[in-house]
Amino acid sequence: MATSRSKLSPLEILHNGPVIPVIVLHDVDHALPLAQALLAGGIRVLEITLRSEAGLESIRRISAELPELIVGAGTVLSPDDLRMTAQAGAKFAISPGLTPSLFAASHDGPIPLIPGVTTASELMLAMERGFTELKFFPAEAAGGVQTLKAMYGPFPRITFCPTGGISPKNYKEYLSLANVACVGGSWIVPPDLIVKGDWDKITELAAKASAKL
Ligand code: 3PG
Repeated sequence: MATSRSKLSPLEILHNGPVIPVIVLHDVDHALPLAQALLAGGIRVLEITLRSEAGLESIRRISAELPELIVGAGTVLSPDDLRMTAQAGAKFAISPGLTPSLFAASHDGPIPLIPGVTTASELMLAMERGFTELKFFPAEAAGGVQTLKAMYGPFPRITFCPTGGISPKNYKEYLSLANVACVGGSWIVPPDLIVKGDWDKITELAAKASAKL
């Protein structure tokens, strides 16, 4: 699948999973070795969150140096976040929730937004704005696989990326669902391994997660 086109659709992005590492970086010097380790383990899409100050610069470095990776910005909470991450080179933005201002900013914006929903009503609001690829967050706390199965009845055309509480124990069950294209999770990028610079171990975790099911 192509990974270097300038504007990918949300569905193309999600189908480049099946597992999207959710990354929190506190040192920009970790950005490139981490991204290289993930790439070596077969990861094609990753999410760098804006939860830390190093997030934005990490997006900039990885996007510039490793164009074969589809770099997304996570924890995008405002129109400003969206604008800054697009300028930094992110190929997409992903948000834990949805707001009218974020919707407005994403329309005709330079990069696609994958908004987060938890309930049927939020999902319907997103649909009204034309969004059909959504993050389901916080997945496990919001009923996990059972909730997604129930959502498939009324909303068969919605594709989800569940995130929050996904682990090596349950990710395959999520990926077996008809309305799930990929999952997001932090288990491939444990903070202690990043701090230690144990890139081989991260490559190993990535390879396990991205192996054919
Ligand atoms: C997210 O930001 O999407 C989640 O916090 C990641 O959740 P996890 O740490 O439970 O994988």
